[in-house]
Amino acid sequence: MTAETAHPWAVQGDDALRAHVAEELSRTRQRSAQLTDAVDDEDLERQHSPLMSPLVWDLAHIGSQEELWLVRDVGGREAVRPDIDDLYDAFQHPRSDRPQLPLLGPTEAREYVGTVRTKVFDLLDGVPLQGRRLVDNAFAFGMIVQHEQQHDETMLATHQLRRGEPALHAEPPPPADDRALPAEIVVPAGPFTMGTSTEPWALDNERPAHDVRVEAFALDTTPVTNGQFQRFIDAGGYRQQQWWSPDGWAFVQRAELEAPRFWFRDGDRWMRRRFGHVEPVPANEPVMHVSYHEAAAFSAWAGKRLPTEREWEKAARFDPSSGRSRRYPWGDDDPGPDHANLGQRHLRPAPAGAYPHGEAPCGARQLIGDVWEWTSSDFRPYPGFTAFPYREYSEVFFGPDHQVLRGGSFGTDRAACRGTFRNWDYPIRRQIFTGFRCARSLSRDEIG
Ligand SMILES: [Fe+2]
Repeated sequence: MTAETAHPWAVQGDDALRAHVAEELSRTRQRSAQLTDAVDDEDLERQHSPLMSPLVWDLAHIGSQEELWLVRDVGGREAVRPDIDDLYDAFQHPRSDRPQLPLLGPTEAREYVGTVRTKVFDLLDGVPLQGRRLVDNAFAFGMIVQHEQQHDETMLATHQLRRGEPALHAEPPPPADDRALPAEIVVPAGPFTMGTSTEPWALDNERPAHDVRVEAFALDTTPVTNGQFQRFIDAGGYRQQQWWSPDGWAFVQRAELEAPRFWFRDGDRWMRRRFGHVEPVPANEPVMHVSYHEAAAFSAWAGKRLPTEREWEKAARFDPSSGRSRRYPWGDDDPGPDHANLGQRHLRPAPAGAYPHGEAPCGARQLIGDVWEWTSSDFRPYPGFTAFPYREYSEVFFGPDHQVLRGGSFGTDRAACRGTFRNWDYPIRRQIFTGFRCARSLSRDEIG
């Protein structure tokens, strides 16, 4: 018997749902425009790293997916640009090849996404939002909002890889609260409901809700900080094979790693480059731009390990007073600015110990927002998984090649982040906004 919120939305009724969709689409497009208007046309067409597409590819791809799913499928309308379907199919062209394609230029791409959006607003007025799984609770619209937000985060990572003067600007995040926090919290053994069957815009890989038992474990109260990670560097961690898995050691040797990506030495100080700013590495901020292998090696050096995906989700969602799994660590309310560092509101993680209003019942902080957190789990389907609405969304990525990341980063929008949300990537990836926290199993004595 699973225990989660029955229908978690404040949005009730057809008109309210349509208004909610329109608001989310517009809010999301503002962010895409901000990311692409921040640089000139030449910069939009440039490839800043072989890991990334030119920004102008992301922009037109956002429009292309919206056209396929909303204009053609949900709306049953005529195609806008059937001639470019192939150019913007992520499965046809790896990122490194995309600059060579005959892509739409910046002006054409902007016109194209605008045309598609006008059609979507037009059809949103009349299309039924029930009677077919793709449109129930406006799912297809939610999927497209999340898709655009995910590409916005990818574009933000491209901005981080771009050389040159700062192009993006934002307020600094809030400080840590000055109350001393314990280094780790304990989550007692027992079952909890993982995944969701009720969250209207949850994606196929988050479904269905199912009960799992988790043994007692300890989890770091906050993500591992730059200061803590620097101690691992200073202790020679990158040169000591004993902390690394065979794959991790091969990677660290081949890539000649000695610190997180974007760090460099200036005399005896560590500096970093962040969206065009060069600054000393702040000791109290969660470490980011580390691969899974670096996160796992640090954890071994610290006498700990990475949490499993189950442990992470139990810490983030389980409410022992009700026995129910929440949508978020703080409860069922959508994330607000006091809960978590999301949505590119700030261009960096907040210091460890910030966001007291976002604390989970177990006492862990910053599980949502700030940095994506590597888990020790590879990406697998939940029992009862069915691919929806297409196999390429999740199913083709299941298997041992991808590690699961949880919780979202400062660059993840609230529409694309919740307690059940699962992200995945290769264990060598470092350009994404990823950090981690450590866990450990409890000894018999500690369990009592
Ligand atoms: Fe995409």
